[in-house]
Amino acid sequence: MTLTFREARLGDIPAMFELRGRTRENPISAGELAVLDITPESTMTSIASGRTCSWVCLHGASLVGFATGNHPSGEILVVAVSPDFEGRGIGKKLLHSVMESLQSRGCARLWLAASPDPGVRSYGFYRHLGWRPTGQTDAHGDEILERTPNHRLERPVTPNSDVA
Ligand SMILES: CC(C)(COP(=O)(O)OP(=O)(O)OC[C@H]1O[C@@H](n2cnc3c(N)ncnc32)[C@H](O)[C@@H]1OP(=O)(O)O)[C@@H](O)C(=O)NCCC(=O)NCCS
Repeated sequence: MTLTFREARLGDIPAMFELRGRTRENPISAGELAVLDITPESTMTSIASGRTCSWVCLHGASLVGFATGNHPSGEILVVAVSPDFEGRGIGKKLLHSVMESLQSRGCARLWLAASPDPGVRSYGFYRHLGWRPTGQTDAHGDEILERTPNHRLERPVTPNSDVA
C-alpha cells in the first residue's frame, strides 16, 4: 500500500475534522471541538500563522491520518489514524514528524495529555514510543506525558511516500 506523508495544507482541514470524529477510540466530533473553540477556521488561522504544525498521511487522495503540535508550548495536540489503517506505523511516523517540526522550531520540552486508561490503544502507543507520565493530570482527567529534550528519532523524517 502506498502512503504519502507530508505537512498539512489548508485544504486538508475539512478531512482532518472528519477523521477526528470517526477514530475507533476517543473520537471527537466537530461539534464537540467547536465547544472548545477548535473550528476549521481557527485551525486554518493557527496553521497559517505557524502556531501549530500538522502532518498528514494520505492513501491515494484519502486522508487516513494526521498529527498536530503547538508552537511554542511543545504540546502534541492530536494523533489520529483512520480505523482501517491502525497498526501500520502511521501514527508513529506522524507523531515523529510533528515532534521533529516542533524541535526544529526550538521547542525544548515536548508534552501531551492522554487517557490514563490502559485499555485504550494510545496508552500503550505513547509508552512504547518512549513517552513517560509526569504524575500530573489536566482538567479533563487526562495524564500529562513528556519526552526528554533532544531525544533521537528512529529515522529521519522527510515528506515522502512510504510503503506500509
Ligand atoms: C493511538 C493511535 C494514534 C496509534 O496509531 P497507529 O498508527 O495504530 O500506531 P502505530 O502502528 O504507528 O504503532 C507504533 C508502535 O506502537 C506500538 N503500539 C501501538 N499501540 C500499542 C499498545 N497499545 N501497546 C503497546 N504498543 C503499542 C506498535 O506496535 C508500534 O510498535 P513498533 O514501532 O515497535 O512496530 C491510533 O490508534 C488512533 O488514532 N487512536 C484513536 C485516536 C487517539 O486516541 N489518539 C491519541 C490521543 S489524541
